[in-house]
Amino acid sequence: MNTFLQYNPTRLFFGKDQITQIPSELGRKGLNVLVVYGGGSIKKNGVYDNVMEQLAKAEATVYELSGVEPNPRLATVKQGVDICKRENIDFLLAVGGGSVIDCTKAIAVGAKYEGDPWDLITQQAPIEDALPLGTVLTLAATGSEMNQVSVITNWDTHEKLGWGSPYVFPTFSILDPANTKSVPMDQTVYGIVDSMSHALEHYFHRTENTPMIDGFIESLLRTALQNGPKLVENPQTYEYRETMMYLSTTAFNGTLSNGTDGGDWATHGIEHALSAIYDIPHGGGLAILFPNWLEHVLEEDPTRVKQLAVNVFGISDESKTDSEVAKEGAKALRTFWNSLGAPSQLSDYDIDDQHFDDIIQKTFIRPTVGTYKELDHDSVRDILKRSL
Ligand code: NZQ
Ligand code: ZN
Repeated sequence: MNTFLQYNPTRLFFGKDQITQIPSELGRKGLNVLVVYGGGSIKKNGVYDNVMEQLAKAEATVYELSGVEPNPRLATVKQGVDICKRENIDFLLAVGGGSVIDCTKAIAVGAKYEGDPWDLITQQAPIEDALPLGTVLTLAATGSEMNQVSVITNWDTHEKLGWGSPYVFPTFSILDPANTKSVPMDQTVYGIVDSMSHALEHYFHRTENTPMIDGFIESLLRTALQNGPKLVENPQTYEYRETMMYLSTTAFNGTLSNGTDGGDWATHGIEHALSAIYDIPHGGGLAILFPNWLEHVLEEDPTRVKQLAVNVFGISDESKTDSEVAKEGAKALRTFWNSLGAPSQLSDYDIDDQHFDDIIQKTFIRPTVGTYKELDHDSVRDILKRSL
């Protein structure tokens, strides 16, 4: 194992009616609170009313920023920053999925910076301060509710960039699985795919002697295999939503990188480039790319993919080569996601090879792509071609 620091300051309130924690978590009464949300799902499912009731108890002066897009955009971040500066906002409350939370994180740092918030996201300027933020999570997928990561799209330049800072860990997050019962089926499936992809990215590391972490990850993935189909079959069942919500948070809150090099993350890099151009759902892009990334890497070294195949998918390795077992594992992942209704080819989104050069170029916005296997341009092209 590598040396590591386990640090996560987010106070996580998990379970029924935990929304009532908001007033005490705000700390003091009478704050100026900016509530950030998306396209209006929270007004239909009652979460908005519940949040407002709690903010009234806290005697907060409430401001609102609505309309945060899935794949949140820099322009919306800037709107939020303007409100913060104009209204002297004390606290940001994100109510929604990963997009709303990520946008709120960018607003939090932008509010404490005089220049263009994009400078902070591109790391051209250091992040030195942020407004505090909390979240009420409504979609189990990204883990943003308990991590220091955010992903923002600059639609003018078609760049989608992940960035992070300890300043944007939420101070608290409210996770009531009941709030995810209204998530549409396609987004529910994308959430399963994204969470499993986070586990997979962590799994493909190069650190020796990591049986605890490898076992955690395999257990999380097996749980997703068991729970996912039940959830898709019975989306109103609290227990399946509950398992999914805990699973998705755990998949990307730092736990799974303890003692390792952090994992690979090339597939996420390619997906971000893809959705920067085509604006497709993150989980949909991952469902297409990940099995093809596995097939690409197993050609060079099947060892780790084989381990995944045996320990997670229960594939027998009797009288087969490592490569054969590994290939069965990659296929099993694609078949599983397909069975839930996830896409498996770029053509499912009417994407052809027309913009491959652009996708490749945008994948290499960051200097290196992949750590388990560092990809070059040809490797990314190969993965994209396999995904057609
Ligand atoms: O806009 P609203 O009305 O909220 O509707 C949303 C949106 O249309 C809807 N939704 C959310 N909760 C709902 C609901 N509909 C009904 N009932 C509910 N309870 O679902 C749609 C998708 O929401 P979004 O927030 O975009 O989904 P997700 O949570 O999957 O977030 C995706 C974004 O997060 C980034 C992705 O790249 C993408 O931009 N990621 C963020 C990460 C992080 N911060 O750690 C890591 C990930 O790898 C990922 O890259
Ligand atoms: Zn993801």
